Order: sequence, then structure tokens, then C-alpha cells
Amino acid sequence: LAKGPPCPDPFALVKSELIPFSDNMKLLVASENPILSQAASHFFEKRHGKRFRPTIVMLLAQALPNAHKDSSEVVFERQTRLGQVTEMIHVASLIHDDVLDDADTRRGGDAIHKMYSNKVAVLSGDYLLARASVLLAKLGHMDVVQVMARALDSLVSGEIMQIKANGAADKKSSEDKNEISEPMNGKRSFLDRAKAALNVGRSQEALQRELAERDAREMELYLRKSYYKTASLICDASRSCALLAGHASDSEVAAAAEEYGYHLGLAFQIVDDVLDFAMDDDQLGKPAGADLSLGLATAPILFAAQDHPELRPLIERRFKGDGDVTMAYETVRASTGMDLARKLAGFHAQRAVDAICRVAPDSEARDALISICYIVLSRNK
Ligand code: FPP
Ligand code: FPP
Ligand code: MG
Ligand code: MG
Repeated sequence: LAKGPPCPDPFALVKSELIPFSDNMKLLVASENPILSQAASHFFEKRHGKRFRPTIVMLLAQALPNAHKDSSEVVFERQTRLGQVTEMIHVASLIHDDVLDDADTRRGGDAIHKMYSNKVAVLSGDYLLARASVLLAKLGHMDVVQVMARALDSLVSGEIMQIKANGAADKKSSEDKNEISEPMNGKRSFLDRAKAALNVGRSQEALQRELAERDAREMELYLRKSYYKTASLICDASRSCALLAGHASDSEVAAAAEEYGYHLGLAFQIVDDVLDFAMDDDQLGKPAGADLSLGLATAPILFAAQDHPELRPLIERRFKGDGDVTMAYETVRASTGMDLARKLAGFHAQRAVDAICRVAPDSEARDALISICYIVLSRNK
């Protein structure tokens, strides 16, 4: 990675595959209800986004060796379908996410629930998910169905984890009857205080150890949520792409493809979280430090807390105290938190490169997959 990107524009390599992608997509999601068809196809046409996931699937399709008895054209067609299914799941989750987050905009325009209504948003997300499931099953590969079902499970788990974490410290949302939160949440801070009282007579060493364990737990939680939310879909789609190429579930190629997606997804999420601190509002297109306002403790702040223990109580109350967001933001900016988080992202990006180089022979598509790791690390928006 230190040498720079081997392929200047990895997206250009699969451009020709992605052009008919959108037209095809419209046919795939056509329904009897014009509003539903319109809403469901909206994000495949004019505002199609970066198409990160299908790009990676198509590049893997070219880079991985074909071990299937069927011809490579037939295999490639199935892999293309997998790319479409993946993007459909992604778009469905974004449409639902904007309802859950009460977000007005998506991809530089109105969110679906703003363009139409909540009902249309819920239904068109469901509809896309249902279409994706039918297309997935039609691929006729049991292991692929299983792996992609796990991706859905992970996406939803990530969302539930996030709602729980926020519900814990957010007074306003705990008053909201629609919010999902654990009944134990209110009591937890009391239990923590009781535990802290017991700590009074304990050795410094034991306290330090407990704090280190708590930091490790927070980091674990953060990484798990990032896996569910960001890495799982691309990681499971990458594995599925290898399976469709005829590689067995326990093969080195399937494992390496999965590893590639896993590490790339994590690197991407960590960089995303660094940018939330590194950029100002204008550069970001949304308020900087937004994650803090949402109560999210991401990698930069978790690293910063190691040198700045005064951040720990803020993290614990999810930045809900007066002035918490500003104080946390300033502290992180003046700390090594962002640098350390970038290093962690670099570690994951390198692991992704190692994984793909282990199984894919030298090719343009492999270079493009390596370049994507590089781009993820060096992007600044
Ligand atoms: C929208 O996806 C954002 C999310 C699903 C949350 C976090 C995702 C990322 C930081 C990017 C995922 C990275 C990889 C390597 C797959 P998006 O940024 O892909 O949105 P788009 O489809 O509108 O471009
Ligand atoms: C974006 O995150 C959202 C996700 C990564 C996934 C959302 C998943 C669900 C709503 C579960 C339902 C899933 C399906 C398949 C229907 P974000 O809100 O942090 O990012 P943003 O800034 O792009 O909104
Ligand atoms: Mg959102
Ligand atoms: Mg969300």
C-alpha cells in the first residue's frame, strides 16, 4: 500500500458492466403499483450512489479464478446478478435507515420518505428486499443463500445495537414509546456507581486494569457494530462471489474473498469516522462531529480516551451532558486519536490487500481491488 495505487481508476474497469446495470435494475423491481416501482427504482437510476458493493463484486468476479464446471460466461452472469442483489439490499437498508434516523436527505436529494411518505418508504424497502430474496434464491446456490441471509441478519443486528446504545443515555428517546431500549438501561448507571464505590479501597493497579478492560470492551463493541453495519454486506457478498465461481465453502479462495471484504469494510468505516472529526461542515456536507451528537463513540475518541481519561465519563453518558459534544470534539482534535484510528484503518486495508493477493493471480482486476483499498485510506470526503 505504501507504494501507491497500482490502478488509477478501479471503477473504470467495470464501468461497461455497470451501465446496463441500472436499466436492468428498473426491470427487476417493476411492480404493478407505479408509485412503488418509482420509489423502488429511484436510487438505481438518477441517484445511483457510488455503487461500491457491485463494483467490488464485479472486480472479484474478474479477479478470482473460475473453478466451476459451467462456462465463465454463465458464472459471470450469476455473479452480476449477485452484484445487483447486493445493491438492492443496500438501497433497501438505506431507505429504511432514513426513516429510522429521521434523515431528510440521501444522495444529495430528498430521502424516499420525504419524496413520498413513511408508508411508501417502508413498503418500497420491504419490496426491494423481497425482490432481492427471490433473485437470490433463483441463483440456486444454497450456500450463497445462507451467506447472504447472514448479511441481512447482520445489518439488522447493527441497527438494533445502535438503537440500544443511544436509547441508553438519551432521555428524550426513552420517553419515546417507539424506541427499543432495554429495561435494564435506567438501572445500569446506578449499578456502575455502586461498583465504583466498592473500588475505593482497591489498588491503583486493579483500577487501571479495570479501566483498560473497559476501554477494550468499548473498542470491541465499536468494531462489532462497524462489522454489522458496514463490513458484513460487502464481506458476505465477496464470499458469495467466490462460491459462485465454484469454490467450496471451506476453500482458501472463499475465505480470502470474505477476508478482503471484511477488512475493506472495516477500513472504510474507520476512515469515515475519522473524517467526521477531520473535516469542517462544508467539506463534509453535514455538521462535523455529528457522530458525537448522535451519541456514537467511534475509533478516534476511543483512542483519544487512552491519553485523556477525562473523556471516559462523557463516552459513558454518550455525550448527553451540557457542553459534552464540544469538549469531546476539541479534545479529540488535539489528541493522537485521529492518527491512531487512521493507523488502524491502514492495518485493515493492508490485511485486505494481503488476502486478495493470496488467491488472485496478477491481473488488472486484482490491481483495481488493491487500488480500492488505497482509495479508501486516502479519501477525504
Ligand atoms: C451509505 O453507504 C453508508 C452506510 C451504509 C454506512 C457506512 C458505509 C460506508 C462508510 C461505506 C461502505 C464501504 C464499503 C467498502 C462497501 P455508501 O456510502 O456506500 O452509500 P451510496 O450507496 O449512497 O454511495
Ligand atoms: C446507514 O447507516 C445504514 C445502514 C448501514 C444499515 C441500515 C439497516 C437497517 C435499517 C436494517 C434494515 C435492513 C434491510 C435490509 C431492510 P448510518 O445511518 O450510520 O449512515 P448514513 O449517514 O448513511 O445514514
Ligand atoms: Mg442514517
Ligand atoms: Mg442509521
